Amino acid sequence: MTTPVQAREMGRSLSRVEGRAKVTGTAPYAYEFPVLDPLYVYPVQATIARGRIIAVDASAATALDGVVTVLTHENAPRLASDADSELWVLQSEEVSYRGEIVGAVLAETSEIARHGAELVRVEYAEQPHDVELRVDRDDLYTPKVLNAGYAPDTDQGDVEEALRSAAVTLDETYSTPFEHNNPMEPHASIAQWTDDGLTMYDSTQGPSRVRTALAEVFGVDPAKVRVISPYVGGGFGSKGSPHPHNVLVGLAAKVARGRPVKFAATRQQMFSFLGYRTPTIQRIRLGADSDGHLTAIVHDVVELTAKVKEFAEQTATPTRMMYASPNRRTSHRLAALDLPVPAWMRAPGVTPGMYAFEVAMDELALRCGLDPVELRIRNEPEVDPQTGRPWSSRNLLACLREGARRFEWEGRDPTPAVRWHGDWLVGTGVASSRYPVHLLPGSAASIGLGADGRYDVSIAAADIGTGAWTVLAQIAADALEVPLEGVNLRIGDSELPPGSVAGGSSGTSSWGSTIVAAAEAFRTKYGDRPETGADVTVDMPQNPNLAKYAMDTFGAQFAQVRVHPGTGEVRVDRMLGVFAAGRILNPRTARSQLIGGMTMGISMALYEDSVLDPRFGHIVNHDFATYHIAANADIGDVDAIWVEEDDPYVNPMGAKGIGEVGISGTAAAVANAIYHATGIRRRDLPLTPDKLMTDTCVRRDGRDRP
Ligand code: MOS
Repeated sequence: MTTPVQAREMGRSLSRVEGRAKVTGTAPYAYEFPVLDPLYVYPVQATIARGRIIAVDASAATALDGVVTVLTHENAPRLASDADSELWVLQSEEVSYRGEIVGAVLAETSEIARHGAELVRVEYAEQPHDVELRVDRDDLYTPKVLNAGYAPDTDQGDVEEALRSAAVTLDETYSTPFEHNNPMEPHASIAQWTDDGLTMYDSTQGPSRVRTALAEVFGVDPAKVRVISPYVGGGFGSKGSPHPHNVLVGLAAKVARGRPVKFAATRQQMFSFLGYRTPTIQRIRLGADSDGHLTAIVHDVVELTAKVKEFAEQTATPTRMMYASPNRRTSHRLAALDLPVPAWMRAPGVTPGMYAFEVAMDELALRCGLDPVELRIRNEPEVDPQTGRPWSSRNLLACLREGARRFEWEGRDPTPAVRWHGDWLVGTGVASSRYPVHLLPGSAASIGLGADGRYDVSIAAADIGTGAWTVLAQIAADALEVPLEGVNLRIGDSELPPGSVAGGSSGTSSWGSTIVAAAEAFRTKYGDRPETGADVTVDMPQNPNLAKYAMDTFGAQFAQVRVHPGTGEVRVDRMLGVFAAGRILNPRTARSQLIGGMTMGISMALYEDSVLDPRFGHIVNHDFATYHIAANADIGDVDAIWVEEDDPYVNPMGAKGIGEVGISGTAAAVANAIYHATGIRRRDLPLTPDKLMTDTCVRRDGRDRP
């Protein structure tokens, strides 16, 4: 572990170094790279959810002026590896989910390609499909391991006995729907094969990861694959791993005789083969003594995966460590369905899990006759309840207290459905936030002194709108003890030393640690007077503290809502998040991340709901007209602040991740505020108007409506 870095540039509220290029339209996104004489590919998607292709009639498409070729499983170039079954594109007649890519048209323009795709006739031998997630399925199974390496089940103490003898208990079931990531820039790629191999301009959170995956699936040396992604218009996890389109565009480029091939997903395609957040059904049981000390925590999760590839979300993992309780049990069960593969969506698992658990805590507070902030304070664990390790730093209580003070929480009357503002019922709610500190392996960085006297700092990191271009330059400048202008940062290209993926809120931590280690090595090797051309390349150092301490980012979110009992409309008028994330390296980009997460959480609480039609196995509301994402007009006064936190253990910058903690707990805070406003406790997100209409007859006794 390298020594802490003195902050000079770190901590400054800098605007994005690439901001001018972005607003003037000179920052090239994947689809915009100027390539010569491109072709365009448009996929043909399966119209059945399970079965086999028995015939393809491409004659009408082929006859179309401008169509170069029609790819099917029969004529597409063969791939080398099916290790990742999601990437086994156009290799077999099997159909595993509706919307799967079963063909593609390569044409001179994107319009012709799309027209051609509509003319391709595919005949299927359809088999019955199974796409329904229910807790009473008899085929739910326990995955061997959850994503990010977590155990599927944990069991400490004797929860059943603790529940039997508890003074106060809770047993409720919460559910969250399918949700689809929709970054402003859809998934897009340009691929070109030359004698040097494959070049792909890609909208990705991890150019090195895409390179590795493409090399494997196409059976070529990774040195023959180059992935370029300097600017990315959002990802939220959906671009954290390659998806079928990456392979499709690579296959199409193989038959394009050296010409580049372009693909950009339509919005509707964003709802089919590019991942989604699994729906969840979560049963939570809590026991507490008469003072509100938890004696039992049980969190049982049922969620789904695709038959074609396992994806097991870590939904109950925050429940394992948030609060103290001698008896605790968590479990995850999966239904394997004929659906596309789920994928990461901002704070995967943690977001739906914290929604359920933090609403349950609100319900428990009421049953204990305690303020919900006080309930959390009473259950603060001294060490990580799961591992027994000390915290590297944990300032949840500071966040709760500072938030309560600023939000003027004190003296809040817990009685629901009694505060009116004109025709609207008003309420407030609170929830905790948390996201783990992840350090992803696999990065390396090089530092060289250029002829202009500036340091070239190179790592295949990805800035997906987070501010990495700016913050990594700040870190490098401090590590090299030069001003920001002395650093020439290079990221977003797999030709550079490898970078771990921009996911798990780990980018700044992983890449930053690596850059600091490279700077140290450079200074050790060359001293104070390096000469032009001096350079080093260094792998990310291990952090031995990871095995000694529990490391998490915490926060507390407070929401004030208005609900119209006649229409069921909700307005989140005010929201405050207070976070403890170690050193904040750039207040401006950090605040943007945090309020972005909170905004996405409000959207989750109130709107986002991908509706599956079980008869066909597809998402019906696959566009922005019918899948509503919070717009500017939906968002009131949202603010994010942070408490001072000095953490010498996480990394040499002392900084924890901030990309995902902002969304964790948001939906619970909003749901808790809606209960406080209306007395309606609906446990199934999103909380749409139909669930909150009380017409003229408003229940004022706080009891749930039937
Ligand atoms: Mo984030 S969902 O870990 O890219």
